[in-house]
Amino acid sequence: MFRENSETALAKLEKHLSDISIRGLELIDPQQLTQAARALMTAEHDAVAAFDEERLASIIDLYIRTGIQVQSPGYMGRQFSGVVPLAGVIDFVSSMVSQPASFYEAGQLPSAVERIMAEELNRFIGYDPGRFTMVTTSGGSLANLTALLAARNEKLPGYWSQGASAVRGQPRPAIAVGADVHYSVARAAGVLGIGDAQLVRLPLNKQQQISVGEVRATLEAAERQNLKVFCMVASAGGTSVGAFDPIDELAAIAEERDLWLHIDGAHGASLLVSDALRDKLRGIARADSLAWDAHKMMFVPAPCTMLFYKNRETALSAFRQKASYVFEEEQDIYTAFDSGPKNFECTKRPMIMTLWALWAIYGRSLFAEKIEYLCGLTGEAYEILRADPDFETPHRPEANILCFRYHPAGYGGASGKKLDKKALHHLQVAIRNRVKSEGNFFISKVDIDGAAALRVVMMNHQITAEHFRMLLSEIKRTGRELIESDESEEGTGKA
Ligand SMILES: Cc1ncc(COP(=O)(O)O)c(C=O)c1O
Repeated sequence: MFRENSETALAKLEKHLSDISIRGLELIDPQQLTQAARALMTAEHDAVAAFDEERLASIIDLYIRTGIQVQSPGYMGRQFSGVVPLAGVIDFVSSMVSQPASFYEAGQLPSAVERIMAEELNRFIGYDPGRFTMVTTSGGSLANLTALLAARNEKLPGYWSQGASAVRGQPRPAIAVGADVHYSVARAAGVLGIGDAQLVRLPLNKQQQISVGEVRATLEAAERQNLKVFCMVASAGGTSVGAFDPIDELAAIAEERDLWLHIDGAHGASLLVSDALRDKLRGIARADSLAWDAHKMMFVPAPCTMLFYKNRETALSAFRQKASYVFEEEQDIYTAFDSGPKNFECTKRPMIMTLWALWAIYGRSLFAEKIEYLCGLTGEAYEILRADPDFETPHRPEANILCFRYHPAGYGGASGKKLDKKALHHLQVAIRNRVKSEGNFFISKVDIDGAAALRVVMMNHQITAEHFRMLLSEIKRTGRELIESDESEEGTGKA
């Protein structure tokens, strides 16, 4: 029966994977979808219902059909990846063998493999092999929270046990971040009792990177406001435009002022495995911690995040707890491999297995080649935009995220009007929504300098420059239609 059920799923997934037609996201009314899901549920409540093969087939169909089509070249919208199918196969095995990964006893191979992957990837980070450590967490948000917790415990002793009273009478603890930092960092500051209003926002330059020249003055201004900055967070591949903050220069400032330096590399740390792109994270070995999502640019199913620490001791100090049913006072050869003391989760998916299996079978180049292709493709897309007077490009892409605006050249329209900032903003939002609802492409949008921009994220190596040109044609057609309909509304007094 297990084989038959698996084969049902396999046949459907095989068809799904081989469909590389260009399609976006079909958003279904949630009420309708809920109804469709309810209609698939058995009416039998008093006994175990008889197995219904058709019900299973319909459940799988509905699941596949209503997802983001990450394998399609039309998917350019978000940061989670088109998954390498083999990683999905390993994930399937993980579900069946059920080996939670926080304790060696429960997940032997995942615990051993976590160490192997830590060592493999640390070759590109460059931490002292005798001192560093890594722990997997369910997502980059949790990795950021965990790292900031370790930072807080290291720099503000007593906070773990006494809470905010440990710093009563002293300047308020604060965290310095790039002005465009991912929201999970602000959320972590709230969770940790630092307070999200105690974030000191470091100004950005035109490329949306932290502007190094302004950091010292901003930190000094914070001190004058009675804040004690104990930690600085920089991004390696920021969410909005994929900007890489200058880690080496920021590390020098962090060392000078005794700040914990955390790098949120959820998106871009994967560039480390590429010889051609590693330099984007120059200085990474000077950071105290690094969050790295493998479910983004290492193409494995979500979640699979790794949190690296320069110093094992500080990782262990993130959670200072006793729990005799799981934590051993005296480590033995087995418990030395437990990751439980280093992470928030107790039962944790053996997420490293997918990454390790791909690494074990194909080696580093699988990842490096895909990443280099996607970053190269994004660079090519940027050049296509620059050569087209109908588009403006507010930034030069550093990795595989590219933002741009449709702003037709010489636009004067029937009314001879120019698009002002507000109109430009609304036009991008309307284009994004129309493109999404037409269902050929799935792209996102982000606000840059107060006006929306269209955003593409290249996460699937089956996307080519030709697909990008097709997207641009659709954007132009849509944009023109929207402008014309606006004008005709103005003409008829409907505006
Ligand atoms: C820069 C950055 N940090 C953190 C996160 C959060 O990661 P996760 O979605 O794995 O929780 C994201 C997600 O897109 C991100 O782009």
